[in-house]
Amino acid sequence: MSQIIYLNGEYINRDDGKISIMDRGFLFGDGVYELVPIYKSKPFLINKHLQRLRSSLELVGMKTDFAIIEDLENIMLQLIAKNKYVDHFFYVHITRGYQSSRNHVYPDGIKPTVLVMGEEYKVFSKEKLKNGFKGCVREDFRWMKSNIKSISLLGNVLLKNYAAQNGFYETLLIRNKKLTEGSASNIFVVNNGKVMTPNLGVEILPGITRDLLIELFRKNNIDVEETDVSEDDLLNSEEVWCTSSTNYCVPITEIDSKKIGDGTVGEYSYKSYDLINKFISEL
Ligand code: PDD
Repeated sequence: MSQIIYLNGEYINRDDGKISIMDRGFLFGDGVYELVPIYKSKPFLINKHLQRLRSSLELVGMKTDFAIIEDLENIMLQLIAKNKYVDHFFYVHITRGYQSSRNHVYPDGIKPTVLVMGEEYKVFSKEKLKNGFKGCVREDFRWMKSNIKSISLLGNVLLKNYAAQNGFYETLLIRNKKLTEGSASNIFVVNNGKVMTPNLGVEILPGITRDLLIELFRKNNIDVEETDVSEDDLLNSEEVWCTSSTNYCVPITEIDSKKIGDGTVGEYSYKSYDLINKFISEL
């Protein structure tokens, strides 16, 4: 069924959405994005997503375009109504815009391209978590601004496809012998009974799910340490799981053929799933 999307001020059918080949998003990957789940026909944690989008825009010098952010919530509500979305997610994509010649240097006053479209959402059921998932470890060769939700995702795409082509769910990334994040997720581990996740900084995306889970754990008197996690800590953990807006908790029970803990899904992984699931069900 055809879907209505928002592109540069217009509500149109998805198949009719076209942009110029001279768009800097197409030529340079010059832009930022957000992925916002929709639960029960409402954008999830919208203020946190808009705040991160504002930060991404600011970090790439698109300061003048904050006006767009004011409109985004309204655009999303209109799309939810037009498409009758219940559980879905929004992909929001803002590029620096059209420029008549290909030039690394962008002019002042360039008008951004703004796209908002829905995608189907299929979160894993608790049943699906039961057997755990396999992960692998690779060197994190991405750039040192991974805190920006940039549309230039080639590094992440190559790393995720390495996993997909080799029968793994996710690639866990190591830089200087320390865990950064997954190719499309943040990572939590339980080591010596302690829940830990890598510190925020330029090497990782400040995940909205990561943030929510830390808050929910702390509210439930479970301590979470935001700290360095070495490759050794990771491989010798009792539990490892990935968090992201598309799948809020995915337990990793084996990394490169090495069992994590006893190789089964642990109590904190289930706890993470249950806490987020409960939070969503109470919306
Ligand atoms: N990505 N780190 C990376 C590199 C990511 O791509 C993502 C999510 C996360 C988790 O962030 P959040 O909890 O806010 O979704 C961490 C989305 C799902 C994507 O690009 O499709």
